[in-house]
Amino acid sequence: MSNGKKVLLIISGGISAYKSLELIRELKVRNIKVRCILTTAGSQFVTPLSVEALTGDKVYQDLFSLTETNEMGHIELSRDADLIVVAPATANIIAKMRAGIADDLATTALIATDKSVLIAPSMNVKMWEHASTQSNMMELQQRGINVIGPETGDMACGEYGVGRMSEPLSIAQKINEVLLENKGMLQNQIITKTKPMKLVGRKAIVTSGPTKEAIDPVRYLTNHSSGRQGYAIAKALSEQGAETILISGPTQLPSPSGVTVKHVNSALEMLAACKEFLPADIVICAAAVADWRIANPNINKIKKNGELPVLELIENPDILLQISQLTKNRPYLVIGFAAETQDLIKNAQAKLSKKGCDWIMANDVSPETGTFGSEKNTIHIISKDGVEAWPTLTKEIIGQKISIRIAEFLDGLS
Ligand code: CTP
Repeated sequence: MSNGKKVLLIISGGISAYKSLELIRELKVRNIKVRCILTTAGSQFVTPLSVEALTGDKVYQDLFSLTETNEMGHIELSRDADLIVVAPATANIIAKMRAGIADDLATTALIATDKSVLIAPSMNVKMWEHASTQSNMMELQQRGINVIGPETGDMACGEYGVGRMSEPLSIAQKINEVLLENKGMLQNQIITKTKPMKLVGRKAIVTSGPTKEAIDPVRYLTNHSSGRQGYAIAKALSEQGAETILISGPTQLPSPSGVTVKHVNSALEMLAACKEFLPADIVICAAAVADWRIANPNINKIKKNGELPVLELIENPDILLQISQLTKNRPYLVIGFAAETQDLIKNAQAKLSKKGCDWIMANDVSPETGTFGSEKNTIHIISKDGVEAWPTLTKEIIGQKISIRIAEFLDGLS
């Protein structure tokens, strides 16, 4: 983890600057210290006071004002950090970074740094697509600048397209990754974007999150799944070049970039979506599908009338089982999860044979492990060849490791 690491966050003048406040909170939750430079344009979107309240530190704005003895100059500011993050990174600051222009505190700190830099571009779709922005981005990436986003979606200006800044949670996860890479903590199997992608030409479907089973129009049955593990796997598969479809139950998570996300509610909808996107080379069922649904959900809200309602449950279809048992166009690799609270390995091995899938990723979801909703997970890979225990890792890194394992398996088939 990146405990105690220091990030210098540069907030430049984009409409998504408000998301940077949420980013500060996400970093603090991860015990990462944040110091902020707010550009003049950035201060049109967020106030220095709100930034100071969240960082608990002075916000740095002026290149030439070192009024107090404990204030830091641009060199010290950039050297003191383990990583510099520019979020949002506007077309303007990106152009200045490429050209080496240093005309304010932010750009001066950027040119003075000897640390890694991560930028989260944010701009109107036409500005993003403009030849000069594209050429600037290519040059910055060649220089080793890390980039996250931008995402596709509706823009504040009313247009639709590429240009939205990535969500704070995704940026925080990326920051964690870059800090770990800097520290040399990532295991050597982890592929960064500069290395060749291993799943180009492959199609992957990932199910993720909980399902919601309606009792009536206002009530439902569900479970504690956050969807984080499935989202991380989908992201990693896509980063390895796979055409990736994420079929997600209701979650609070931002869509991973490059992944087609199909949102569903119930187990029946999840199954139908899988059928819609099959065939595929790889299917990973990471969803915590509700095992039962209400036989006859009420069309109207059930009213209290002095008697307890009787809810008749029926079993949901088992999506993993159905895909594993396909006789026509069965994916080369079908991977399930086993969420257990006791006898992890024994139960997971039983699931492997009962469901007929190729691998099971077994994890203990007892409340004391904090697996649901947490950033970390402890996985055992169960297959016909045996059991392999992985150390506790972030869900992101588990996604990357499993993607590489999948690529190696598929390579072995040809
Ligand atoms: N699964 C599925 N469809 C279901 C139930 C489960 O696709 N209706 C998949 C899950 O996505 C997971 C695997 O089956 O990959 C195991 O899920 P889990 O909840 O651990 O086990 P269950 O099969 O539900 O069995 P039990 O609740 O008895 O442990």
